[in-house]
Amino acid sequence: MEKKFVIATNNPHKVVEFKKILAPLGIECVSLKEMGIVCDAEETGTTFAENAYIKAKAVYDICKLPTVADDSGICVDALGGEPGVYSARYGGEGYDDEGRMYLLLKNMEQQENRAAHFTSSISCVLNDETVLNAEGYIFGRLTREPRGTNGFGYDPIFLPDGYSMTTAEMEGEAKNAISHRGNALREFVLKLKEYYHAYSDQ
Ligand code: IMP
Repeated sequence: MEKKFVIATNNPHKVVEFKKILAPLGIECVSLKEMGIVCDAEETGTTFAENAYIKAKAVYDICKLPTVADDSGICVDALGGEPGVYSARYGGEGYDDEGRMYLLLKNMEQQENRAAHFTSSISCVLNDETVLNAEGYIFGRLTREPRGTNGFGYDPIFLPDGYSMTTAEMEGEAKNAISHRGNALREFVLKLKEYYHAYSDQ
C-alpha cells in the first residue's frame, strides 16, 4: 500500500484538516508546496464532485502518486443554493475570503430563512485505474455577524445545527468531528480500507 498521498490544494487550512484525519491510518499527507508542485487546475465543473476530480487528476498526472482533492462550498437555501460551487469565487475578482463573507451577509440582510449547509466532495486518484469518491455535509444556519477567528472562509458566519458556536469559534478537532470535510474524509477512509482489503485478498 502506498502510504504517501498528495493533497491537491493550495489552501493550508485544508492540508491541516486532511493530515489530522488521515494520519491515524498511517498515511503521510504531503502538500503541493512540500512536493514543489505548482498546479492551479481550472475548476470548469458544475458540481463539487466534478471539480474535485479535475483537481486531483491534474496533480496525479504530474506526480503519479495517490492524490486527494476536495471541492467544497457553502449552499444557502434562501439564495437557491448559492454560492455553491462558486463559493471561492463569490462576487468575482477583487474579493478576498473576508470580503466574500461580508458580501454573503449583505446579500442575506433581508432574509429570515438563514438555513445553509457546507458540502465537501472528495476525489482520490489512487492509480491509473482507480478513483475513489466521497461526499460529506454539515447543516446549520448563517449568523448575522461574524464570530470567531479559527478556520477560514465562511466559518465565522456558520452556526452548525445544535451548536451555539460558529465553526470559527471551534478548535480544529471539534470542527473536524462534525464538518463536511471531516464527514467526507471519514467516508473516504472507509472506502480506502475496503479497497485495500479487496486488493490484499487478490
Ligand atoms: P475550493 O477550494 O474551491 O473547494 O473552495 C471552497 C470555498 O468554500 C472556500 O474558499 C471557502 O470560501 C468555502 N469553504 C469550503 N470549506 C469551508 C470550511 O470548512 N469553512 C469555511 N469556508 C469553507
